[in-house]
Formats: sequence, C-alpha cells, structure tokens
Amino acid sequence: MDDPAANLADLRTDYKRAALDERDVVPDPFAQFTRWFDDARAAFVPEPNAMTLATADATGRPAARIVLLKEVDHRGFVFYTNYDSHKGQQLDARPLAALLFFWPELERQVRIEGSVEAVDAATADAYWRTRPRLSRLGAWASPQSAMLPDRASLEARFAAAEQRFPGDDIVRPPRWGGYRVLPVRFEFWQGRASRLHDRIEYRQEGASWRIGRLAP
Ligand SMILES: Cc1cc2nc3c(=O)[nH]c(=O)nc-3n(C[C@H](O)[C@H](O)[C@H](O)COP(=O)(O)O)c2cc1C
Repeated sequence: MDDPAANLADLRTDYKRAALDERDVVPDPFAQFTRWFDDARAAFVPEPNAMTLATADATGRPAARIVLLKEVDHRGFVFYTNYDSHKGQQLDARPLAALLFFWPELERQVRIEGSVEAVDAATADAYWRTRPRLSRLGAWASPQSAMLPDRASLEARFAAAEQRFPGDDIVRPPRWGGYRVLPVRFEFWQGRASRLHDRIEYRQEGASWRIGRLAP
C-alpha cells in the first residue's frame, strides 16, 4: 500500500476562481456575509448553512462539530440544539464560540467569533413550530450527547415520544432551544493562486467595524 501520508502531501489545489479586495467588500459584515451566502446558494454548495461550531470547556479544552445556521440578523447567528449536550455544557461554562463556513465550490471560508447567548423562548418556539413532526419527536427522544446502551434504546425513546404526542401538537422540550453567536470578528477568505489568498477581516470597534487585510 502507498504511504498515506505521502498521498496527503500531494493533495493540493491552486485556487483561481475569484479575488477579494478591500474595495469589493461592503462596510457591514452581516451584509457581506449575506452576499457570500447567497453566492453559495446560487452555486448549489451542498448544505451551505452547515457551519463548524467551536467551543471550549471550563479548562479551555476545545471541541468542534457541525450545526446548521437557522437565523441571521444584525444581532447574530442562531443555531438550535439541546442545552444539556456537550456543546450546551461548554457554552454554559464559557459563552464564547467560533463559527466556520467552508464553501469549496467557491474557494471561500468565512470565520466568525464572538460571545454566545441563549435565544428567548418565543424565538425558539417559533422555530420549533417550523420543524417537521418527526424532527420534533426526535428532539424529545434524544438526550443529546448522553451515553446510550444501544440503538434499540433510542428507537424505544422515539416510539414513546410518538405515543406521548400522537398529533401535531408537540411542545418544545424544555432543554431544547437556540443559541445566538454575537460576532466581534469576521474574516472572509478567498483562495488565490500560489497561496497568496485574500483575507479581509472585520473587527468590531464600538458601534462600527474596522476592515483590514490579513496575510495569508
Ligand atoms: C450536517 C450536520 C448538521 C447538524 N446540525 C446540527 C444542529 O443544527 N444542531 C445540533 O445540535 N446538532 C447538529 N448536528 C450534530 C452535531 O454535529 C453533533 O453531533 C451534536 O450536536 C452533538 O454535539 P456535542 O456533543 O458537541 O454537543 C449536525 C451534524 C451534521 C453533520
């Protein structure tokens, strides 16, 4: 068998699709995000709202996983989850997070960093009602990130939830809800040739955003 490390060393892409200049970006990073998100949708990037969420526990130990962006406005970026999951426990201990979008079809990455707050109950309820019935039952069935003895026990919990809620009227589980990441920093990365990538950063300074270019 070939040396897998040697194969990895040979894997590389030269990025040539586009450029990103300070003059191209809009002053509002949320508007810039929306612009790039719309590009990702138009390019049929699969699951363009899938983002890596990085958190840390009280000791600083990091963890990362994918979640789905469900709302974005000038307050921040919202995802939904179980408050008792590992990420929920980490965000309780340290309400800080980083988000990462990678849209390879566009040779683009967006990084977002900020503090985190729980969304209010009315907002969570409104999103909860849009979820398909089976997803709502799944949220009731899963004690997310807890150890399960086997697959059958999860399916039994799902069946119990189906019995408990036979119709469409399913209340939101008390420990299921949303978090909003309130950005203080954005970075828009556009791959370029010869590793001379474009990186445009926005840093929050009071009520405005300072825009700058970072070395690749
Ligand atoms: C494409 C994709 C989308 C996901 N979306 C979510 C989501 O919106 N919310 C969520 O809690 N978990 C989502 N997950 C599962 C998480 O990655 C993770 O397994 C789970 O939330 C438990 O993470 P934790 O133990 O760090 O809390 C998604 C996974 C994938 C691959």
